[in-house]
Amino acid sequence: MAAYDYETHEYDCIVIGAGGAGLRATLGMAEQGLRTACITKVFPTRSHTVAAQGGIAASLSNMGPDHWQWHMYDTVKGSDWLGDTDAMEYLAREAPKAVYELEHYGVPFSRTEDGKIYQRPFGGHTTEFGEGPPVQRTCAAADRTGHAILHTLYGQSLKNNAEFYIEYFATDLIMAEDGTCQGVVAWNLEDGSMHVFSAKMTVLATGGYGRAYFSATSAHTCTGDGGGMAARAGLPLQDMEFVQFHPTGIYGSGTLITEGARGEGGYLTNSEGERFMERYAPTYKDLASRDVVSRCMTLEIREGRGVGADSDHIHLHLNHLPPETLALRLPGITESARIFAGVDLTREPIPVLPTVHYNMGGIPTNYWGEVLNPTADNPDRISPGLMAVGEAGCASVHGANRLGSNSLIDLVVFGRAAAIKAGEVVDRTGGNPALNQASVDAAFDRFDRFRHADGAVPTADLRLEMQKTMQEDAAVFRTDKTLAEGVKKMNGVAAKMSDLKVSDRSMVWNSDLMETLELDNLMPNALATIVSAEARKESRGAQAHEDYPDRDDVNWRKHTLATVDDKVTLTYRPVHLDPLSSEAEGGIEIKKIAPKARVY
Ligand code: FUM
Repeated sequence: MAAYDYETHEYDCIVIGAGGAGLRATLGMAEQGLRTACITKVFPTRSHTVAAQGGIAASLSNMGPDHWQWHMYDTVKGSDWLGDTDAMEYLAREAPKAVYELEHYGVPFSRTEDGKIYQRPFGGHTTEFGEGPPVQRTCAAADRTGHAILHTLYGQSLKNNAEFYIEYFATDLIMAEDGTCQGVVAWNLEDGSMHVFSAKMTVLATGGYGRAYFSATSAHTCTGDGGGMAARAGLPLQDMEFVQFHPTGIYGSGTLITEGARGEGGYLTNSEGERFMERYAPTYKDLASRDVVSRCMTLEIREGRGVGADSDHIHLHLNHLPPETLALRLPGITESARIFAGVDLTREPIPVLPTVHYNMGGIPTNYWGEVLNPTADNPDRISPGLMAVGEAGCASVHGANRLGSNSLIDLVVFGRAAAIKAGEVVDRTGGNPALNQASVDAAFDRFDRFRHADGAVPTADLRLEMQKTMQEDAAVFRTDKTLAEGVKKMNGVAAKMSDLKVSDRSMVWNSDLMETLELDNLMPNALATIVSAEARKESRGAQAHEDYPDRDDVNWRKHTLATVDDKVTLTYRPVHLDPLSSEAEGGIEIKKIAPKARVY
């Protein structure tokens, strides 16, 4: 066993990650008096939630009629009927409460003339169960909503005595022999010390794995650390084939231009100056669901109607909007367009391209955030002591495609739910059970192996190979051929993990080692994505399979589970079809959420 000194810490709850979901869980647990620590590899207010722009969905009805049932319906349809109905109902019902809580915690939302929270339209959000006009449901703090939420939740967590371990990198879960999670091993990046955290409840809130791709709106820190830790603990990853491309990443840099831009009246054009979305989605046009808009843009480019010298991107126009609207509602992207595209958006269109933005898949959970380790007999079996929330988890509330602004609401609704559940199940009276030393030792051995890796392949080279493969072969459109090639290439890439070269052996701020550990987390996420995509012989949401262009509800309305060790093994579990409340109790009419053609 590798010999490292370490410090041991004991808590009721530990939360790994300090984005919106992690902080909301931390705050909710600390508020209840649970001894809670948040372990985060970046300073909390630098977590990727800070980059969320356009807003947070909740049926507040501040700008016109809205109902949580309409929000639920839109989410069901947006998911292309792959989301779990109970989780989607929970999200839509709890959303207004969760947003008002944020308001009371101090989030500085933009305001209407009469002082209410300002809401804007976003893609796929409608009225009258998809029959009425677009709804203004997305609550915004200008175009810096994630920033506003993150700062508020961090302040509130401190106020409630949550403890923070900042710039600590969690390396591995500590698992008891019976499969109970007992905590985590972590490395303090700043001083090089090692730490063992014992907890009665461990929450993975580590975000997505956008950096498995070459071009992503995600921060470089989005390396699927929770998914990597879960996979190494033998837990499956769910619905990983569904990777969202945001329609409007800035061409070249991939920087996000919020969907709020189209919500405020922006529109897309091709090289002929045509507003082509009118052709593909006659009702909701540029405000169709994201997967639909990304596919239409890709088709326009493929058919030779892209803009620019290489006809390889699309224009987003905001130059027709009053400059004061841009200054008030979209100040952040005005700056981004100038810095990253050299464009004055009051005068010129922004060059944009669909860019990897979000992972619908993740660690399977129920709508309380409890991690599932399904068996054939019990597809909803709970993995004790472990929760996953936010983009790291898969509740499954977004199914095959997430609606814009349903991410921020997912973070706070399910972060809050996890805290409520922890308050019920964590026994505050007893001490923490003895840790499984074999699991602790295994974590140190793995850490030490990478620290002293002396092969031939630098981490950055292998990461690039993975990113290029995923970008090419698990893209907006997929075919049997590209996916089969992608699986083969990714198996080759993964095999090189045993031949890595780490040049820096030090313990203090060793970014070479940290990026290697991150790559080891990205790898199972990427493998699960491409193998799951290759197996799914249909088109649904973000999986646009050109050899199987139709959705196949008979054979494929089911969740993929990918277990990754030496190879990827796939099994499936049923989608939850029943809502939480019956029609008689005021819930949604079942017939409204039955699968049908998904048109906008
Ligand atoms: O377009 C945006 O502002 C992104 C929002 C989201 O992904 O929910």
